[in-house]
Amino acid sequence: MCGIVGYVGGRKAAGIIYGGLKQLEYRGYDSAGIATLEDGKISVVKRRGKVSVLQPYIGGLGGTAGIGHTRWATHGGPSDENAHPHSAGKFSIVHNGIIENYSELKEKYFPDTAFLSETDSEIIARLLDKFYDGDFLYALKKVADLLKGSYAAAVICADFQGLALIKRNNPAIIGYGEGENFAASDAPALSFCKQITILEDGDVAVLTADGVSIFNERLQGVIRERIVNPATPLSLELGDCPHYMLKEIREVPASVERTRTAYLSVENKVGLTLAGAERIIITGCGTAYNSGIIAKRFIETFAHMPVETEIAGEFRYKNPIITPNTVVVAISQSGETADTVEAAKLAKRLGAVVVAVTNAPYSQLTRCADAVVPVEAGSEICVAATKSYTGQLTALYLMAKTLAGQGAAEAVKSLSAVAPLCERVIAEGADIDTLADMCARASGVYFLGRDIDHGVALEGSLKLKEISYVPSEGYPAGELKHGTLALIDIRTVSVFLITSPRLAEKSANAVEQVLSRKGKAAVITNVAAVRERFAGRVPVISIPECDEYLSPFLTAAAVQLLAYKTALLLDRDPDKPRNLAKSVTVE
Ligand code: AGP
Repeated sequence: MCGIVGYVGGRKAAGIIYGGLKQLEYRGYDSAGIATLEDGKISVVKRRGKVSVLQPYIGGLGGTAGIGHTRWATHGGPSDENAHPHSAGKFSIVHNGIIENYSELKEKYFPDTAFLSETDSEIIARLLDKFYDGDFLYALKKVADLLKGSYAAAVICADFQGLALIKRNNPAIIGYGEGENFAASDAPALSFCKQITILEDGDVAVLTADGVSIFNERLQGVIRERIVNPATPLSLELGDCPHYMLKEIREVPASVERTRTAYLSVENKVGLTLAGAERIIITGCGTAYNSGIIAKRFIETFAHMPVETEIAGEFRYKNPIITPNTVVVAISQSGETADTVEAAKLAKRLGAVVVAVTNAPYSQLTRCADAVVPVEAGSEICVAATKSYTGQLTALYLMAKTLAGQGAAEAVKSLSAVAPLCERVIAEGADIDTLADMCARASGVYFLGRDIDHGVALEGSLKLKEISYVPSEGYPAGELKHGTLALIDIRTVSVFLITSPRLAEKSANAVEQVLSRKGKAAVITNVAAVRERFAGRVPVISIPECDEYLSPFLTAAAVQLLAYKTALLLDRDPDKPRNLAKSVTVE
């Protein structure tokens, strides 16, 4: 959730750390801070707000070693006090994760101490200060042993010209330079390093300008593999787009194209891994889960194989039933979502074959998977997932075709029409303006559809509430009359997705039910009869005609644009919605 950066070398640390934090802002943006070490003295600047609040202070922070943090609040609201780094005695720390036993530790070791923040993280600095007797490594190990929960923490000590990292259940990465070394919670912050090491749980790493030493849980020196850094710097350029969200929606066609091409190189491995599969469980969170709902339809239709979908945060606590030949497909843009990673690990422990569908090679998720289906969406900066969702649909469609026994070349070809059709939807996005205006004024917006349209309805609803804060629900159109219809009145808008000629008449009936209760409605469709029936009665967003199972790619682009335009009308920041972060690495 939070972003961490550390530096030690010959250059001024603050500017380098600031640059890294800018790259990690998607992990949280409610406060930020930097601590640097100069001549055995630690200086700290931390403020509520986005990383740029630190900019005026960078010049004044001396020292060639330091740590920095961009925060997504878990314990204690966004404030200057709760911003990291947290300091005690000779130590300053930044932390990503949740220390579950912090109250217990506080009560046991500091019953009479007034802490300076409401965070769970401050306990790390306090404990280091308490157990430090001149041996930095010993103090780190002692404290790591006391902590329960998840953490990646970077630490500086006034007595040591360098920094240290401890980690459990949260990512921590080391980047190597010439006469300098780097630390981060995520590879994009270190994209300029050719080589990186991904630390393992329980590791303690100590970094100086001259080298890096890594110790395992028993404090034995270990050698961890150096790998070529797969990260490219996040392109922070907006081009002619006012927001990353619009830029990334415009990149949907490229995401589809790259992902379908990439599938050719993994199809063999994926095919071998899926051979013998008799039952599929798909898991993920938020948008990734929603793409799994569509994947269920793909697999059931193409391969006639039973599929269950499970929200990862539920799956991991429900004692799941894993029968022989069960394959668990874990979907995650970041590959670091704690619930999804833990669900995948649990599935593996219970004997399932695990397939990861992700945008992030070398993420925690890929490391516990038997096979990886890559999503080549490119870096996504906006908190709301757009091009990664469509990339996931692409990867999952192709995986479903493999399960159905279809060759990759043919399957990949069957998606060739998708990118140009998505381009048309995006280019004609202006038609959505009237509907966006209705949504911006609504007391609630319902997204309704049947079968595969229901999956996109869920995603449309999530996108709208996430960035516009308009209350919204996604629902199967047929279920409307079993309860939700009671909510319909003149202040509500019901957006119907109708792409299946088979089910068009049924869904059209539901539109009539809404209109006859004086609710407002709109239709997103590629069925001519539906277009004609509702033209002039409600806003009709027309999308190109296509195969029923390609329609989610197109309706997804339409609902993404709708959410974006609604958010702008309400003066929201679509890229950084309140209370959220892009990558949720805590429970
Ligand atoms: C999507 O717009 C959301 N930001 C959120 O639901 C996201 O999809 C979810 O947190 C899962 O993230 P992941 O794909 O990185 O695992």
